[in-house]
Amino acid sequence: MSRYAEGYAEIASLAGGLAHEIRNPLSTISMNLDLLVEDLATSDEPRDRRMLDKLHTVQSECRHLEEILDAFLQFARVSSLEFVPVDLNNLVSSFLDFYRPQADDTGIDISPHLEPGLPTVDGDDPLLRQMLMNLCRNATEAMPEGGRLEIQTAVDGDHVALVVIDNGHGIDATAREKMFDTFFSTRPSGSGLGLPTVRKIAQAHHGTIACESEPGQGTKFTIRLPIDTSDQLSDDPGDNQIDS
Ligand SMILES: Nc1ncnc2c1ncn2[C@@H]1O[C@H](COP(=O)(O)OP(=O)(O)O)[C@@H](O)[C@H]1O
Ligand SMILES: [Mg+2]
Repeated sequence: MSRYAEGYAEIASLAGGLAHEIRNPLSTISMNLDLLVEDLATSDEPRDRRMLDKLHTVQSECRHLEEILDAFLQFARVSSLEFVPVDLNNLVSSFLDFYRPQADDTGIDISPHLEPGLPTVDGDDPLLRQMLMNLCRNATEAMPEGGRLEIQTAVDGDHVALVVIDNGHGIDATAREKMFDTFFSTRPSGSGLGLPTVRKIAQAHHGTIACESEPGQGTKFTIRLPIDTSDQLSDDPGDNQIDS
């Protein structure tokens, strides 16, 4: 390892450790705040109402900090991957079982278009799920009044494409230039780590990410991941036969 790489690895592990260390006391603060808010919520005293207002502000700042820490730890985790054959159709379906109720609450209509018999990719299942989650969260946040979220899978040459399309507010040219920069966000409570994490996960799978967006119309993110050929060869002995 070069001295630069060693220095980087040390800083990265320190930063990860720091994030973990901050998370525990922060969750204690957060829990106690929730209890205080619960206690005060029933009071009609003007002084208590004023205190409650302030506590709500502190509460929401705590949530913001927790989100930043979680996003940071996710970003940092992308360096250690455990590869297994992943069926993206299964991944999307099981993700939707979890995400659909949330989406329904915010008026988002989800339509999956999953190509039957999709080949597997060699991937880290939880990280790929995280990638899909970050893209769907961004899409949902771009449609505060509700909208349509389409998730597609398809074979694209020797790759599998995972496509997430929304009809939200879109991304203007300035934001598109910066959207993969760490900590870039146009949202007041954004971490700016969602898309950098998505790109890092795609790249760690030897994949690519592309974005098309029309302000006022919507956005389409396309992830392409290489088809897991080792899996196909072992599944189909015909592929290994040499014609003579
Ligand atoms: N589907 C989308 N529609 C509109 N804007 C998006 C979309 N996805 C990402 N963006 C823009 O890219 C920025 C960065 O996204 P991200 O890295 O996930 O950070 P965050 O969500 O915390 O703001 C967002 O603040 C937003 O401006
Ligand atoms: Mg995001």
